[in-house]
Amino acid sequence: MDIKNEVAKRAEIINRSIEEFLPIREPEGLYKACRHLIRAGGKRLRPVLSLISAEALGKDWRNILPAAIAIETIHNFTLIHDDIMDRDEMRRGVPTVHKLFGEATAILAGDTLFAEAFKILTKCNVKPENLVKAVDMLADVCIKICEGQFLDMSFESRDFVSEEEYIDMVEKKTAVLIACSCSMPAVLFGEKEEIVEALWNFGLLSGIGFQIHDDVLDLIGGEKIGKDWGSDLVEGKKTLVVIKAMEMGVEIEIFGKGKATKEEIAKAVQKLKDCGAIDYASKKAKEFVEKGKEHLKILPDSEAKRLLIAIADYLVTREY
Ligand code: IPE
Ligand code: IPE
Ligand code: MG
Ligand code: MG
Ligand code: MG
Repeated sequence: MDIKNEVAKRAEIINRSIEEFLPIREPEGLYKACRHLIRAGGKRLRPVLSLISAEALGKDWRNILPAAIAIETIHNFTLIHDDIMDRDEMRRGVPTVHKLFGEATAILAGDTLFAEAFKILTKCNVKPENLVKAVDMLADVCIKICEGQFLDMSFESRDFVSEEEYIDMVEKKTAVLIACSCSMPAVLFGEKEEIVEALWNFGLLSGIGFQIHDDVLDLIGGEKIGKDWGSDLVEGKKTLVVIKAMEMGVEIEIFGKGKATKEEIAKAVQKLKDCGAIDYASKKAKEFVEKGKEHLKILPDSEAKRLLIAIADYLVTREY
């Protein structure tokens, strides 16, 4: 199975639908800001997971395509606001929305996408009672993301954050949306609760691994990630790598300093490599994915199921 090709085929479907569901409207100034990031690309992993989850249930993904687009739209809304919070200037290899259009317009662009996502979700071709459940699920997920983002910020000013607290925070800020991507098709098709739950847990545990790996890529991903290098260190983020390094008494001079030169970042990254904190986090990320995959046992074997498993592995081995 050529996983890259299988993902690319579906990402192409998503990209075409984004153009259809999210056109430029009036006032153009607002919509240009709204569409800047979503048209800049991205891996489209969440909506692709939704399409494949539908396939793994033996269902026609066309009926839930709007849900996949809605989830990608929510993702882009959170990224625009996240870049304001994290003071980041680059994403997907282009300047961030607030950098190009100003902070006020970027806040509005995020708000607009947030509302558009729910409008798009309602276009799914499923039973109304299942749609109501999906709307409730997506709203819950958005609330959790806000809780997670708040925790992420509040940890910056704390001296000590435990590994357990970190996992709880990333589960909320990142993993719930991936869990939602995997399980919402089951909700929309009216599958049994145990199937919904299994797909949720698969996405949730893989999503925790995904965020741990994202923290690692922030340090060692290089140009490929298309985002500001070492941003987490400069901002003072309590990532799993930093939590582990702190536990070992390793000092990172630039941590939370608000700015640093490339040389200083390189030196800090070398220290984090040398003490084993990066390897520790990478190993943890893979452990979460392994635990996540176990939940798929409930599904019958299929090409789509094998693809879900392959994507879960990709989440913690990807280079960008
Ligand atoms: C970035 O997500 C935000 C995190 C939760 C770490 P992705 O790495 O999926 O970003 P895109 O959509 O491919 O740009
Ligand atoms: C992103 O976490 C979580 C959300 C957007 C909700 P990060 O702040 O680590 O994501 P990147 O690295 O900026 O993509
Ligand atoms: Mg960020
Ligand atoms: Mg952030
Ligand atoms: Mg990050």
